[in-house]
Amino acid sequence: MSRYWKSSFCSLDPQVDEDHRALFRLLDRVATHRRESDAEELNALLDQLLDHTFDHFAREERAMRASGYPHGSRHIQEHQAMRKAFIESLRQVVKGDMAIPAFIKHLRESFTYHFETDDMSFVTWQKQHRRGAAGAPFGLAAAP
Ligand SMILES: [Fe+2]
Ligand SMILES: [Fe+2]
Repeated sequence: MSRYWKSSFCSLDPQVDEDHRALFRLLDRVATHRRESDAEELNALLDQLLDHTFDHFAREERAMRASGYPHGSRHIQEHQAMRKAFIESLRQVVKGDMAIPAFIKHLRESFTYHFETDDMSFVTWQKQHRRGAAGAPFGLAAAP
């Protein structure tokens, strides 16, 4: 468990929470990696972080569309801004214009804010408008 994980992130949707926890674990792994010792491994970790972040956003967006979430377009715009910021920061890291600690700090802060605001609103709405079978959680796993 990442020491940066906060109980306020817990949404009671196990799939959302596991995705978010995995993001924080990956951030920890990048943060503790020693660039000089193995640049190839660092690149692989950054690839994993990017893939997991973008896959997670896509899962949430499918779930928002499938459930008819009324604030989905604003949430998706926020994901899009985060994708652009992520890519821009990553470019700076690759060029050597941004240090890994600054990159990680930026991502932890933006993920933290997003989890506690937009994601929590979506999960709360889902719980109030559950359309899954027999009370099953209508989480990310329910998306097509
Ligand atoms: Fe999320
Ligand atoms: Fe989100």
